[in-house]
Amino acid sequence: MAKTQIHRGKVKIGDTVIRDPSHIFDAEAQEVFYKGEKVVFSEYIYIVMNKPKGLLSATEDKKQKTVLDIVPYEMKRKNMFPVGRLDKDTTGLLILTDDGTFAHRLTAPSKTVGKTYRVVLDGEIDETLVDLFKGGITLADGTLCKPANLRIIDKNIADITITEGKYHQIKRMFGTAGLGVVELKRTSIGRFILPNNLAEGECRYLTEKEKENLFR
Ligand code: URA
Repeated sequence: MAKTQIHRGKVKIGDTVIRDPSHIFDAEAQEVFYKGEKVVFSEYIYIVMNKPKGLLSATEDKKQKTVLDIVPYEMKRKNMFPVGRLDKDTTGLLILTDDGTFAHRLTAPSKTVGKTYRVVLDGEIDETLVDLFKGGITLADGTLCKPANLRIIDKNIADITITEGKYHQIKRMFGTAGLGVVELKRTSIGRFILPNNLAEGECRYLTEKEKENLFR
């Protein structure tokens, strides 16, 4: 892929178009442009995916497709993994990286980055749930959840923000109120909102600003 783009004259070093993929250049002293955009060389890779249904948030699985199966070839890195887990039937914002420290900063239980999900439920949401979730609820198995922010959008649609990522947490939280989750989509992490021009199944690199917004 990269070679083809170079052959096609899409890559410049400084002002000069190069067409030889074996061209050697000085990454510290020279600027590289791809289709006119400056290429920033980074030790690690940071990708946002709009996850479709039906894929596991894992790096590999013997039987089922994983999110890595839909990362375009040129974006793939050897040690890339999804940050945190979305269930197989959950869609939306998923970050992939090969930077373990970055991933830990986003997912460590001691961190309080808010993750927001749009939820469609199989029944009507009772206003009392807002206060119940705000106080931190206890799941059926005794697991205590940190306070969560619930905003009712429609009688069976809500946005919920949680600051942790327990197994099936949102489904289990609504389950305590006798509600089943019909659709679940992660729409933001911190101040970073899933870009609305990123279709389901698509990926793109995160900008530096977007990376910062994930933690704010
Ligand atoms: N909570 C869930 O129940 N499922 C997800 O995929 C994410 C949060």
